[in-house]
Amino acid sequence: MSTAAGRSRSRFDENWSFYKGDIRIPHAVKAGMTGGITDCGSLQEGEWLDIAFNDKGMGHQQLEWKPVSLPHDWCVEQQYVQDASLGSRDGSHGYLPGGTGFYRKTFELPPDAADRKWTVTFDGASGLSTVWVNGHLIGEHRGGYIGFSYDLTDVLRYGGEGRNVILVKVEAVENEGWWYEGCGIYRHVWLEQTDRLHVAEYGTYITTPEAGKEQALVHISTRICNEYTESRAVSLHTEVYNASGEQVCAEAVQAFADWYGETELEQRFRLEHPALWSPETPHLYRAVSILKVDGIEVDRYETPFGIRSIRFDPEEGFFLNGEPLLIKGTCNHQDFAGVGVALPDSLIAYKLKLLKEMGSNAYRSAHHPPTPELLDLCDRIGLLVMDENRKLDSSRSGLSRLKRMLLRDRNHPSVIIWNLENEEVLEGTVTGRRLLKTLADTVKRMDPTRPTSAAMNHGWYENGYNEVVDITGYNYGHRDHLDIRDHEQHPGRLMIGSECASYTATRGIYENDTVRGYCSEYGTNIPSWGCTPQQAWSDVVNNRFLTGVFMWTGFDYQGEPTPYLWPCVNSHFGLMDTCGFPKDSYYYMQAVWKDEPIVHLLPHWNWPGSEGKPVEVRVFANTETAELMLNGSSLGEQQVDRTGYLSWVVHYEPGELKVTGRNGGKEAAVKKAVTAGQPYQIRLYPDRLAGQADGMDTIPVRVAVLDELGHVVPTADHEIRFEVEGAGILLGVGNGNPSSHEPDKSPVRRAFNGWCLALIQAAPEAGTATLRAVCTGLAPAEVLLDFSAAT
Ligand code: GAL
Repeated sequence: MSTAAGRSRSRFDENWSFYKGDIRIPHAVKAGMTGGITDCGSLQEGEWLDIAFNDKGMGHQQLEWKPVSLPHDWCVEQQYVQDASLGSRDGSHGYLPGGTGFYRKTFELPPDAADRKWTVTFDGASGLSTVWVNGHLIGEHRGGYIGFSYDLTDVLRYGGEGRNVILVKVEAVENEGWWYEGCGIYRHVWLEQTDRLHVAEYGTYITTPEAGKEQALVHISTRICNEYTESRAVSLHTEVYNASGEQVCAEAVQAFADWYGETELEQRFRLEHPALWSPETPHLYRAVSILKVDGIEVDRYETPFGIRSIRFDPEEGFFLNGEPLLIKGTCNHQDFAGVGVALPDSLIAYKLKLLKEMGSNAYRSAHHPPTPELLDLCDRIGLLVMDENRKLDSSRSGLSRLKRMLLRDRNHPSVIIWNLENEEVLEGTVTGRRLLKTLADTVKRMDPTRPTSAAMNHGWYENGYNEVVDITGYNYGHRDHLDIRDHEQHPGRLMIGSECASYTATRGIYENDTVRGYCSEYGTNIPSWGCTPQQAWSDVVNNRFLTGVFMWTGFDYQGEPTPYLWPCVNSHFGLMDTCGFPKDSYYYMQAVWKDEPIVHLLPHWNWPGSEGKPVEVRVFANTETAELMLNGSSLGEQQVDRTGYLSWVVHYEPGELKVTGRNGGKEAAVKKAVTAGQPYQIRLYPDRLAGQADGMDTIPVRVAVLDELGHVVPTADHEIRFEVEGAGILLGVGNGNPSSHEPDKSPVRRAFNGWCLALIQAAPEAGTATLRAVCTGLAPAEVLLDFSAAT
């Protein structure tokens, strides 16, 4: 670990030990240490002291510690259990048990590290977490959706003082939401060292009060923290670089930093012809803040930022950089197949890539702040973000969670709205209004550059609830066209479709199945508050004042198996399933959200025994016309309704069903559904063939069951076994079946309607990983993934 002058921030994710269960760590104080000698449960005094305080290995025969790397979610490693009395969480949480676990890690620091300031930051740990370092109780944090950090300077051991022991208790017992929440230290942990004079945590705030094509005004405020016992003269040099790494402006200011205090400095820069940030052109700049004392650099802190302007209009919706932009958003929870909520950064990137490929330009982080890496990625790839506070809570801890989100996230150009709550029970009450107002006022104080909103389901008017935020968020405003009628009555109101559709469909299923818990992709089993994607989108297209949609949801997620319960364990709302495999409505969104010609047809074309029977064939298209053909004969060409769909009744005969989209009479897009033969072979479709050998990078590999001619068999459910050799491991598996109780941490997984997914994670050493997929009766498949040295 480096202790050079300046700042260093290292991942603190490796070499943890994990124990699933409770250990009684007494809290009473004895001889200056944390913990008394009574009430240690089954552990003897020396044993808990060893766990929390000493580096003597863990030497406790009765405790089974296992090595883990973070992010880690132990919830997804367990068995689904229907009966809550057996420790399981209920259906809306995905029928997996919560509980308590401990994480422990030891590490050494060199003797000269004693001169530095040391901070540990947890980006997110489930529920209630308690941290001890070298036996000292350092802090407790409640709230699994925002990070927290602790100053460890005084309690660490340096050089010959011994090894350090950090112990973290995670109590994932109470529910904070009504979806799968996971359990554990499920986001990154960082260890940071600085000089005692340094830029404060989240210490820069960068705004762009002017952001035109010709010129921009960039305002940078920097908080300097002096933790020496004497005041110091300091100079702050701020340098701004463009995406090509060229310095575009720089300025130094002098200040006097008070001892044990914070000093805030303001700087303004003018930039000519700035590269504006937008989803299509996500240009980023970088501000480097350098602190010098007596000409010697003591800290260097970097802040990426973007230059862009936002405006919301009650008639015409959202404007980015002066241009109107329809918000094409999805709401998303944070889990994914194979990993629960512990996503490596590359899987977050994969999810966002899939959303962009669908044509989406906005992401709602439902119903809590996202992990910081998600916002970095949204900045980089160009996705607008509705950043969300977890609770309608103005208590001291509620406000401190909100403030941390604001401090942490307010430099991200992607963030365009602060959403302060979602469907809390106090919506529309007098108390609720007071709570919401305090949250909104807090935002106005800390970041007046973005509007506030609340995602409301049942409290739009009462007691002026919605009036204390800037934008009224309509969850399911389509009911009786309430949102449209509201606009007539309140023409000055800013509105947004904060949650839309809730269209329940199971990938590859065309008939409701109440026993297995599947919903037809034709949309015949959607909840009373839901609507079709067609209605959600056409309402916005026809009423620009609705600003945009956030479809519930981009991906299926664990928990909330609406409209079913057990055996269903995950939701059906996604445009994609839990693995990111597209459902039919994904292609509807693609057709309305993208400009390139797109056609799609449903259902699949494998209906043995249904010969001659009528089948409704639907087509989504954004071309002018679409023609359907069965085995070479035309079934007619229709004019496309861009926000709806086309429909044909076709008497089933096996073969090839083909749709051709035409513009100006010319073929622009084609899609086929071919009757597949007997399952014959496995095929692997890796998202990438190469990655970083950093022990984290994860490549999703789509796995299909094909017939001999290479057509996916849309009903195949073979059990596939995965073998990985070389420089990688199998991180997890999934198949998108909402009623599968197979474990996600396993070398085998059944296909579901032709597909399943394997996640291959790089080893820390460079090399090739070979993934082999086998199944009795099918020709196996193999793929080589090349993980090269991390840069
Ligand atoms: C909304 C709620 C979401 C989810 C959704 C299901 O009312 O905000 O969290 O529960 O319903 O349709």
